[in-house]
Amino acid sequence: NNENLRIAERLTLVCELLQSEVAYYDWVGFYFKNGDKPELKLEAFAGEPTDHTIIPFGKGICGQVAVSNANFVVPDVKAQDNYIACSMYVKAEIVIPLFVDGENIGQIDIDSHTPDPFTEEDERFLEFVNQEVAKILA
Ligand code: SME
Repeated sequence: NNENLRIAERLTLVCELLQSEVAYYDWVGFYFKNGDKPELKLEAFAGEPTDHTIIPFGKGICGQVAVSNANFVVPDVKAQDNYIACSMYVKAEIVIPLFVDGENIGQIDIDSHTPDPFTEEDERFLEFVNQEVAKILA
């Protein structure tokens, strides 16, 4: 519907802003839980299109965060065995869950072509971004 489209457009703007302003944010996307299905669905992104628009709970970094409800910082994607590769250029990834009324409803996912770029500052910043996004979803 119209309201969902408007939200997707606004999320896309958030992705584009983050990707253009932070040098080591090469791909930025929002995945959300897909209705009652045990899977995540890509709702908005900036960067190269990915084949992985649906991710089952438990699979990859994103799928693990859907069930752990915790931040997941990956300094070196090659060291992860439960990992879904989207691009051969990606060296590192950060996934931060997005909570509405205390419930994990989705996440922001960022890929970097720079090795080990993410710090606690990124975690705090992206938690803040997710809290702001939660306000437009509530
Ligand atoms: N690498 C993610 C999949 C999503 S792509 O990064 C866009 C994962 O392992 O869950």
